[in-house]
Amino acid sequence: MRPVEQVGVVGCGVVGAGFAEICARADLDVLVHTTGPESVERGRLRVRHSLDRLVRKEMLSERERDAVTARITFSTDAKRLRDRDFVLEAVVERLAVKQEVFRVLDEVVADADAVLASTTSSFPVMKLAAVTSSPERVLGAHLFNPVPVMELVELTGSLRTGARALDRARSFLSGTLGKQVITSKDRPGFLVNALLIPYLLSAVRMVESEVASAEAVDRSMKLGCAHPMGPLELTDLIGLDVVMAVSKELYEESKEPLHAPPGLLLRMVEAGLLGRKTGQGFHRYA
Ligand SMILES: NC(=O)c1ccc[n+]([C@@H]2O[C@H](COP(=O)([O-])OP(=O)(O)OC[C@H]3O[C@@H](n4cnc5c(N)ncnc54)[C@H](O)[C@@H]3O)[C@@H](O)[C@H]2O)c1
Repeated sequence: MRPVEQVGVVGCGVVGAGFAEICARADLDVLVHTTGPESVERGRLRVRHSLDRLVRKEMLSERERDAVTARITFSTDAKRLRDRDFVLEAVVERLAVKQEVFRVLDEVVADADAVLASTTSSFPVMKLAAVTSSPERVLGAHLFNPVPVMELVELTGSLRTGARALDRARSFLSGTLGKQVITSKDRPGFLVNALLIPYLLSAVRMVESEVASAEAVDRSMKLGCAHPMGPLELTDLIGLDVVMAVSKELYEESKEPLHAPPGLLLRMVEAGLLGRKTGQGFHRYA
């Protein structure tokens, strides 16, 4: 099958921007679709800041940065995704929003061999594929934050995903983008979040019940278990809204009390304390 050359990205938050960046750095033509001029501007800045960081670290020249930037086009017109070979949906972790994106992608992306991927952290792929007329093109490609740094991608097919789409995605993600691909069953949280989220929620409960402060919980896991980051720092990095969404989805399927989002997490999300991306979560950020 023809290699992926034209990439589409829907949503340009933490994950969408990171994915757009690594695709452009792999010399691919990238079209980022977002909802309006403000999110275009935020997305553009996000990519720019990340590339500037590489220039400062002398991992990229200014010329290379400008060439990478020139390969990324931003648009608010979904029809422009028509000619894409691989589209990554990276919008907020809300089922109705993602399903609407997939309805649109199903309609506008023309090639029957194009891959329609979601980077959902929690929803089974089938819930997204079910709203399309081409479920054989739909799969999960769960990336990790920060996308340019983290090597892993969890690749998940639903009961209806075609072998051609899975093969094309695997060869694109590992061959072209150099990611390590692991395959997971189509279940909430796939592999990594099914293991990770109960651990993060336990840390939140410790703070909620005043067993220990956020600082103490994080220090204990860094110093006692040699984790590079404590669970609450990691929750802040992932985003409390994302952790909450995954937790709810795990709980809906398992009814396991350990998967239920603690009240403190719900209140912090309602308060807009989403972690690094809003400047405050369990810790404060400049
Ligand atoms: N944050 C992480 O660590 C992480 C890791 C892996 C996967 N994910 C998943 O990636 C996805 C995005 O997460 P994020 O952390 O980048 O979120 P984010 O909040 O940083 O960004 C979400 C983006 O979606 C855009 N958006 C919202 N509604 C939209 C719509 N209808 N059409 C187009 N764009 C829309 C917003 O403008 C924003 O740019 C989620 O599914 C999340 O679960 C997140």
